Amino acid sequence: IAMSVPVLYAVLRYIIPPQSRERLLEAVTIAKTGDIPATGVKRVKFNKKPVYLFRTATGQIKALSGVCTHLGCVVEFIPEETRFHCNCHSSVFTMEGTNLSGPAPRPLDSYRVEIKGDDITIMAKKS
Ligand code: FES
Repeated sequence: IAMSVPVLYAVLRYIIPPQSRERLLEAVTIAKTGDIPATGVKRVKFNKKPVYLFRTATGQIKALSGVCTHLGCVVEFIPEETRFHCNCHSSVFTMEGTNLSGPAPRPLDSYRVEIKGDDITIMAKKS
């Protein structure tokens, strides 16, 4: 019976292969609450895409995609205006992600944020 354990393991590994490396992550603990400035933003990467973390006026931590909804350029945060600008075709977004001007057809995507202790976890939206 002892001889069968490695065999069983090999069979199970074959039936249940390790997860593909290409798979997109659904949730990542990406930063500590102390990393997020009181004003301004922290840029991180989630599934190789830029994400901006920042505090709202009420102190809540929000995660907005940094990918412009027009043609996918990376938007930049402009501290003087507290807005995001896309340099490709001049779309402008508010801190809520709303598209204010330019060709962007819709708001920036946002991610669900979960705070546990000091850890900030962001989750891909299920659509
Ligand atoms: Fe951002 Fe065109 S890609 S405005």
